[in-house]
Amino acid sequence: MGQGRQQISRDDRAEEHAAPLREAWYYACPSARLKPGQMRAKVMLGEPLLIGRDADGSVFALRDICPHRGMPLSAGRFDAGQIECCYHGWRFDTAGRCTLIPALVAGQSFPLQRVRLQSYPTHEVQGNIWVFFGTDPAAAPPVPVLEGLADATPRLVETVAFAAAIDHAVVGLMDPAHGPFVHRAWWWRSRRSIHAKAKAFAPAPWGFAMTRHAPSANSRGYRLLGGSPETEIVFRLPAVRIEHIRSGRHAVCNLTAITPIDNQTSEINHCIYWTAPWLSALKPLLRPYVRAFLHQDRRIMERQRQGLRWNPPLMLIDDADTQAKWYYRLKREYRRARAESRPFENPIEPRTLRWRS
Ligand code: FES
Ligand SMILES: [Fe+2]
Repeated sequence: MGQGRQQISRDDRAEEHAAPLREAWYYACPSARLKPGQMRAKVMLGEPLLIGRDADGSVFALRDICPHRGMPLSAGRFDAGQIECCYHGWRFDTAGRCTLIPALVAGQSFPLQRVRLQSYPTHEVQGNIWVFFGTDPAAAPPVPVLEGLADATPRLVETVAFAAAIDHAVVGLMDPAHGPFVHRAWWWRSRRSIHAKAKAFAPAPWGFAMTRHAPSANSRGYRLLGGSPETEIVFRLPAVRIEHIRSGRHAVCNLTAITPIDNQTSEINHCIYWTAPWLSALKPLLRPYVRAFLHQDRRIMERQRQGLRWNPPLMLIDDADTQAKWYYRLKREYRRARAESRPFENPIEPRTLRWRS
């Protein structure tokens, strides 16, 4: 009995650790997919959200459940100012306040101000919309702003849903050793091109960075840029990867943001920015490559899920899986720091990692 109870509390703890971090901004959608007067339903962190843009262009996010009888408000109407529930016509403003209950007759007093939808902070920058989950956005890792791109918007965004919980999605996307096995393609690299690599890492705000270096000689795709490209890859909490490739006066930037949809599904948004105008001409060629790449990851994680169903113990080896270990460490420290109301202390030390890929 006692042992059974202990087992349960250990499982609870594992579940709690695997849960997505709260007190964090998560990627919701590209700005371009939300025009003024539009609203869309989206589940994030297991919560039903309604994300909309009013007539002035401001973005808002509300709980997508009518407090009257549970109807998704996204099934109703939005006139770019107010949302009307499709069931009994209750109306709400974009801050979530109830403004009208049509069933009330004159003289019936009902405290409308007591009816309120939960509202989530939103932030829109560089062509992307982010939503905050928690109570104190000021103390959270800020929404990433890509250096040197001012108010650019992504030239290409690819959105893919993965059948993987957030941790497996993050670890899978950062994993340096799966490339030659999962992303085999004539235009990228092959299994035969595996070689030993050594990359220098350093702590970075809310995460770590693979410091500026020349990309692998076996990454043929980078050669398109010309010159002698240099790349820097940053990971930061809760689940953002930024790759900056610079070559001469041009830059290409990949922002990959992972959003937990529920505890079985994650959504990857891969946003590509570039400054070289001629790259835009290549866009129709680029998109299928990006898509193929992400779907290779999607398929491998779907297969992995078949194995994970049996809840096997997992291994993280040095150095190939050290970034995964760092991710777990960062997540743990962030959670502890918030629980203890103290500043986050980055647990990462500078280090060179070596692996073959
Ligand atoms: S359920 Fe929304 S108004 Fe009744
Ligand atoms: Fe991958």
